[in-house]
Amino acid sequence: MNMIQEILKRFSRKVFTGEDFLFLLNVEDEQDFQPVFEYSEKICESVYGRDVFVRGILEFSNICTRNCFYCGLRKGNDRLKRYRMKPDEIFKEVRKVSEKGIRTIVLQSGEDDHFTDEIMASLLERIKKNFNMAITLSIGERSYESYKQLKEAGADRFLLRIETSDEKLFKRLHPDGNFQQRKKCLHFLKELGYELGTGIMVGLPGQSCSSLVKDIFFFKEVGADMIGIGPFLSHQDTPLRNFRPRKFFLTLKVLALIRCLLPDVNIPATTAMGTIDPQGRQKALAAGANVIMPNLSPAVYRPLYQLYDNKICVYETSANCLSCTEEIVRQAGKTVCLGRGDRIKQ
Ligand code: 5AD
Ligand code: SF4
Ligand code: FES
Repeated sequence: MNMIQEILKRFSRKVFTGEDFLFLLNVEDEQDFQPVFEYSEKICESVYGRDVFVRGILEFSNICTRNCFYCGLRKGNDRLKRYRMKPDEIFKEVRKVSEKGIRTIVLQSGEDDHFTDEIMASLLERIKKNFNMAITLSIGERSYESYKQLKEAGADRFLLRIETSDEKLFKRLHPDGNFQQRKKCLHFLKELGYELGTGIMVGLPGQSCSSLVKDIFFFKEVGADMIGIGPFLSHQDTPLRNFRPRKFFLTLKVLALIRCLLPDVNIPATTAMGTIDPQGRQKALAAGANVIMPNLSPAVYRPLYQLYDNKICVYETSANCLSCTEEIVRQAGKTVCLGRGDRIKQ
């Protein structure tokens, strides 16, 4: 029996070691790795069946006070035209999403301090009162009190990627960030009863495979309910403009290993996966992903929300993205599920 078969046998006995993960992340031949993808897809199906949860994303402000070196929305990018949707406009867009039958909305923005707790809370209450929807926020680091107020106003889930669990690397990428603070935020969110989403980018400068192995164990340790994984993609107006690793296969392997370790978490086939490879999201669904997140932002704002170059869907409408993601789900041999898509805890 070859090494990969031996490792899969250990996985089926729920034995997961850093050495095995490291070995698998170093497998270079895609054909050799295929049995692992088949295994991780099977594990996913043992919990979620063929269902793929659809969650609409609304990018409501591209204004950001931070300077993350990798991101096109960073404050220091003065070539970007900035926008901020008004609460009324956000509410109207959420109504459209609800009318499509989608029961989860992800409200995403830069760290825009215009959206105070009061403004956010009143928007959340209004959405909750009018629509039967799970609300996910992806608006960055805030205080415990703030997260608490937003939870009480109706937020159900929160996405805050750790980006990397390597403190030194985190520091190099975030001139104005603090790793311990970021971890604290994740603990706050968990403690407050949010469904917790986190995640990383794969292919960051100076990121090793053993660092990725630590990331995988980190997700288990923080009790993540959802884990978003995407390749790092460079953006021309950032300090990392010339760093172009394009680690699609490595990202897919990381995704599969997360599924093996954490059978019941939600894992999206991310937009970045669809950007780096035209079949990226189909391949992610075939490797253990069970969520897809169509961009449902108004067409006028899309070109202004480019976290990285060549982001897909920028010149599309919401209707196109919704039907496109449904088609991707079908191509992967799975079923579109517009419901809330809560984690099925096992
Ligand atoms: N490449 C890939 N992903 C990126 N993100 C931000 N910039 C990039 C980039 N250049 C991701 C981060 C962030 C999420 C909203 O988008 O992981 O958490
Ligand atoms: Fe702002 Fe988030 Fe981009 Fe960092 S990753 S610059 S916090 S939008
Ligand atoms: Fe937007 Fe395919 S999901 S065009």
